[in-house]
Amino acid sequence: MDNPSKYLYCSQCNDKHHRNKTIDNRSKKLKGELNVRSTWELARDSIKSLKPCVHGGEVWNAEKKVSYNRNEIVDFSSSINPLGPSQKALEAIGKNLGSIQIYPDSNSEWLREAIATSFGEIGSNNVIVGNGSTELIYLFAETFLEKGEMALIPAPTFGEYEKAVKKAGGEPRHIKMTRNLGVEPNIFTRQIKDAKIVFLCNPNNPTSALIPHDTLIKIIEDALKHDVLLFLDEDFLEFVDEGKQVSLVDKISEFPNLFVLRSFTKVFGLTGLRIGYGIASEDTIEILSNAKTPWNVNCLAQVAALASLADKEHIKKSSQVVKTERAFLTQEIAQLKCFSQYPADANFILINIKKSGFTAAQLKEKMLQQGILIRDCSSFKGLDEHHIRVAVKSRQENERLLEAFRKNLGIKT
Ligand SMILES: Cc1ncc(COP(=O)(O)O)c(C=O)c1O
Repeated sequence: MDNPSKYLYCSQCNDKHHRNKTIDNRSKKLKGELNVRSTWELARDSIKSLKPCVHGGEVWNAEKKVSYNRNEIVDFSSSINPLGPSQKALEAIGKNLGSIQIYPDSNSEWLREAIATSFGEIGSNNVIVGNGSTELIYLFAETFLEKGEMALIPAPTFGEYEKAVKKAGGEPRHIKMTRNLGVEPNIFTRQIKDAKIVFLCNPNNPTSALIPHDTLIKIIEDALKHDVLLFLDEDFLEFVDEGKQVSLVDKISEFPNLFVLRSFTKVFGLTGLRIGYGIASEDTIEILSNAKTPWNVNCLAQVAALASLADKEHIKKSSQVVKTERAFLTQEIAQLKCFSQYPADANFILINIKKSGFTAAQLKEKMLQQGILIRDCSSFKGLDEHHIRVAVKSRQENERLLEAFRKNLGIKT
């Protein structure tokens, strides 16, 4: 009979795989025998200090802790289109399964052309496609930062900017947001001359707030004067009302220092396929394209992204659902008197839960027991242990969230 401890049950495919206990033991033994330096000692200094960022969406881990499996857990910790991907994207994946036996187009030519067309005023040479927009954050930092050069990063914001800067050998400098978690332009502009890159996220994760247009332009103009690059993450902008008017994609010819980041993870729901893109001057795109990893975006992600872009109806419907549900959730959360929420422009809401008596970690644990995953925001620089973030999902899911909140807060309905 099979010894079950020989196997690991894989949560990705629900199948069992052989455990491999031997590799680690073997390398320890070899090190002892040969008296060699550990691989930790051999690593670059900038890498040794790195730690993985904390993110939402860890349903793979969550299902190990509770009696729910990952399909039953309602994930409010990652902020993805509640309608999921376009049906047309799924059909395109099905039709193109045969192409996995050849290399994908390394430069994503068709997709870059389609992205450029979708914006109108840019060409395909203004577009680079990445393995998730995360790849482009790292590529940008590695391409432009020399060892010791400084990058300005607001706090709180998305954690991968800091890690990418550190990995590239640069030095992140955090600029604390105002009491209301807004960006104060003067603090940025005072420090810009010492920086090489400024990272901004609009709307910002985790605050869900838009940066006012005048503030953005002031910071970009100042950056340009001092030869500083502006990395503007617009990954959640499709969820914002009038997002097209807010975007700075149409400013790339005016500001050669501007790089705008976008993703197929959020509104397009192609999260697991890993695909995102960036828009900038032709010079910037050429430098980045020369430096990027070849075949970085797989062929199924490319065809799914093409089909998603073409499905305008799905995007329109998704924005409408998010708009309605954001208003519903905001209104209902306002009834929970021990919660204090920040105004949300994107498809997620940041909430201060201090008055509830729970820390974010405690509430997350309690909610998970009810099959609901929320984001404990204490890992964000600039936030304390009393902030949570929840995504805007479908009405039924939002009602489940609210019911679980009420139950845990002891509110009778
Ligand atoms: C603000 C922001 N930018 C970028 C990313 C990375 O997205 P992806 O690599 O899935 O495109 C995330 C993911 O959560 C994010 O919140």
